[in-house]
Amino acid sequence: MKFRAIMGALCAAGLMCGVSAVQAAESIEVLHWWTSGGESKAVGVLKDDMTKEGYTWKDFAVAGGAGAAAMTALKTQVISGNAPSAAQIKGPLIQEWAAQGVLVPIDASAGDWKKNLPPEIDKIMHADGHYVAAPFSVHRVNWLYINKAALDKAGGKAPTTWPEFFALADKMKAAGIQPIAMGGQPWQDLTLWEDVVLSQGSDFYKKALVDLDQKTLTSDKMLNVFDTVRKIQGYFDAGRTGRDWNLATAMVINGKAGMQFMGDWAKGEFANAGKKSGVDYVCAAVPGTEKSYTFNVDSFVFFQQKGQKSATPGQLALAKTIMSPAFQEQFSLYKGSIPVRLGVSMDKFDDCAKKSYADEQVAIKSGGYVPSLAHGMAQPDAAAGAISDVVTKFMNSQEDSKTAVAALAKAAKTK
Ligand code: GAL
Repeated sequence: MKFRAIMGALCAAGLMCGVSAVQAAESIEVLHWWTSGGESKAVGVLKDDMTKEGYTWKDFAVAGGAGAAAMTALKTQVISGNAPSAAQIKGPLIQEWAAQGVLVPIDASAGDWKKNLPPEIDKIMHADGHYVAAPFSVHRVNWLYINKAALDKAGGKAPTTWPEFFALADKMKAAGIQPIAMGGQPWQDLTLWEDVVLSQGSDFYKKALVDLDQKTLTSDKMLNVFDTVRKIQGYFDAGRTGRDWNLATAMVINGKAGMQFMGDWAKGEFANAGKKSGVDYVCAAVPGTEKSYTFNVDSFVFFQQKGQKSATPGQLALAKTIMSPAFQEQFSLYKGSIPVRLGVSMDKFDDCAKKSYADEQVAIKSGGYVPSLAHGMAQPDAAAGAISDVVTKFMNSQEDSKTAVAALAKAAKTK
């Protein structure tokens, strides 16, 4: 045991929390947005691991799904010279922050990462040839969660096409069940919309949301996407304005609603409520997306502390712990995701996670593995934000699909 760990353990045991122990423990301030039941449990594993290693965890949690509020808080912190030790940042935003010259490389902790990460994800963790981010797990975004009792009552099976979906939603309605639980924030609107884009095929998704190809963005298929979203909205309940995603998940958990479109962090809520897949709920790929996989990889980046251009021992230990096999397993078991590190055993995982893993392998081989736009993996912040505005405006007004498509094509040009 290292000196720091010994002092930390003594302190935790209430034995010797004197000045020397306090001075020995580096304090690590961590900014994240994992505040729902399942999310807190998952990040709690990291806190416990770091505390055991002798560091002091300073939690800087900013509530708000998908992190919009957390990102605003982070900018304020960095501008005022109070950057946290680490912050939850992912996708192209990693490079955007690196370009500001405020991050530290963590190569010293990443000796075995290259051979243990899928190449497309390994690349995202880099800036200027150095590792600057540590990845947690892979979330699949294109899921539909269904309350099992509601499904049985409607006499249905998980839908694989939109006509099947609408037929099931109608049956739930006829059986007195609210068909869809939906939250009311722009990122949740965008999550559903990108699901429907994906249902038109992963090639269409890539051309539209990765390449931002104007012809694809203005195609009849895209009109169809907006029409389908409008139709799905007909099955929402009235109270969605401002509703958090986990409250919508709770409606499905408690049988107040039949279905929710959400990434598999929702599974963390089911697990936290003691619910079992296949018994209490069913996870299915969004209709029409069985062979595709929108990935969302959470990661932490590490900020310069007191003007130092290299990582502190605590930052290096944090990065190392995040990628350790034991942490990868336990974090994902609570979070609803699957480990991003290759070769971690899936034995302890449930059917939904095993399906996620199997579907991921298929999608990678077939070209159906695509980055989620709604979760910051596909585009720089500015373009993603402009597209999000278009989708949210459409979903919160009576705008027609043609007007939305024209606005979308314009938004995609945002630099
Ligand atoms: C996503 C994030 C997930 C989950 C979700 C809801 O963007 O990647 O880890 O936390 O937001 O907050």
